[in-house]
Amino acid sequence: SEAATWARPGADPRTEDPPRPSPPAFTNTPDTDPALAASRAWAQRVVSRATARRLLADPAPTQVLGTDGDVDAVVARAVGQVGPWGGTTAAQRREVLRTAGRLLEEARTDLVATMVHEAHKTVAEADPEVSEAVDFAVYYAEQALALESVPGAVFIPDGTTVVTPPWNFPVSIPLGSVLASLAAGAPVIVKPSHLTPRCTEVAVRAVREALVAHGHSPDVVQVVRAQEEAGRRLVTHPDVTRVLLTGSLETAQAFARWRPELQVLAETSGKNAIVVTAAADVDLAVADVVHSAFSHAGQKCSAASLLILVGSAGRSARLRRQLADAVASLAVGQATHLATTMGPLTGPPGAKLLRALTTLDPGERWLVRPRRVPALSSGDSPHLWTPGVKVGVASGSFFHLTEVFGPVLGVIRVETLDEAIAAANAVPFGLTGGLHSLDEQEIATWLDRVEVGNAYVNRHITGAIVGRQPFGGWKASVVGPGAKAGGPGYVAQLGRWHDGAGVP
Ligand code: SER
Repeated sequence: SEAATWARPGADPRTEDPPRPSPPAFTNTPDTDPALAASRAWAQRVVSRATARRLLADPAPTQVLGTDGDVDAVVARAVGQVGPWGGTTAAQRREVLRTAGRLLEEARTDLVATMVHEAHKTVAEADPEVSEAVDFAVYYAEQALALESVPGAVFIPDGTTVVTPPWNFPVSIPLGSVLASLAAGAPVIVKPSHLTPRCTEVAVRAVREALVAHGHSPDVVQVVRAQEEAGRRLVTHPDVTRVLLTGSLETAQAFARWRPELQVLAETSGKNAIVVTAAADVDLAVADVVHSAFSHAGQKCSAASLLILVGSAGRSARLRRQLADAVASLAVGQATHLATTMGPLTGPPGAKLLRALTTLDPGERWLVRPRRVPALSSGDSPHLWTPGVKVGVASGSFFHLTEVFGPVLGVIRVETLDEAIAAANAVPFGLTGGLHSLDEQEIATWLDRVEVGNAYVNRHITGAIVGRQPFGGWKASVVGPGAKAGGPGYVAQLGRWHDGAGVP
């Protein structure tokens, strides 16, 4: 996006702790250019493969953890790599990560096809995830070296990491966590979500190949499947040092409760609002709201769930009509159709989402009413819904305060920017937030007071960019030291610092 994105002045001070290795020189990996005829042909091949699932790539060797003994064996193998991998130089780790980045790029077609098939992402949504995973590899490769350039502090690799990623970004989020841990010199065990294991497994294969290519054991990164009990034994195992979780706050709290010595670093939930004032460019605002609320069917922790209209923006029939028309114009369909702009849910809707899709609370009415779309053929996802927009959402109501994680947007009307900021900050979470306004005073006021990790001005609020717009939350959206993924402090928090001053 060309639009400005603002770093929040006076951001959460936890992200300002020393030592802070300097950001590396870094160029983001481009997505596949949809304007090229060759890209169109490629996308067609991708969806053909996603439809004929037998043509999908074989993932990395995966161990299914059943018994306690299985868990112990996997952890023992990881612990066996603490010495060899922790003893590598930063330059050696950098080479492995750079090779992993190249192999992930080579696997782009496999990865996108697997995401279309398994996660029900469209090609246009899945393709940037591969770019982000490659970005993490290249960026954290440089961060490995930067660890050695902090004056007065020595970084020491520390122990073993378990990564428990979500299903909504089944390639970029697990890979970001895995690659950061590798950069920090810690072996990793990844336990993908049961909804999207193959996406993660195919991606991890590239990292294991990179390790082998440089003469290291592939067991530095293991991928496992585990049901609830085995999963719990894994994260509570006494030989596991830390867990990198992207998931619910409840899960993060459970991990910490189960084993207080475990370092839990978690990116949790969000209930994110875009504020639109009378000084907004309405065309830009509507486009960004629709993208933020409904890309990947709203299944992003960063998604816009609330639209807060200030003053005359809330009374504008033009804005309401434009919003309704834009939402109704989304091409809702299966992810395997290239024309689809909003695909199915990845799995069945949870209770909160179902309530949001089917129920109106007092004062609410549908501006755009969602409905379930029946599956037409056996390969179709049964979890396809059209998008919904409810207006008249009341302050303090269920929809105002609850993360629903799906294609429903709620509209709140207030009279002043102060009230808008109060409504946005009333939620327990603080992940992303947006403001649409061309008024510099409004922008300054909002930036000063909004309680979110990623604050975006006149831009959509999803799609953080490695190295440029690192991603991370505030308040109940984060557990642990809280350095942002894709930013200069992330790797630095995954080990120990010799003089003790640097442990973020
Ligand atoms: N990093 C993603 C985004 O910014 C969310 O995980 O949308």
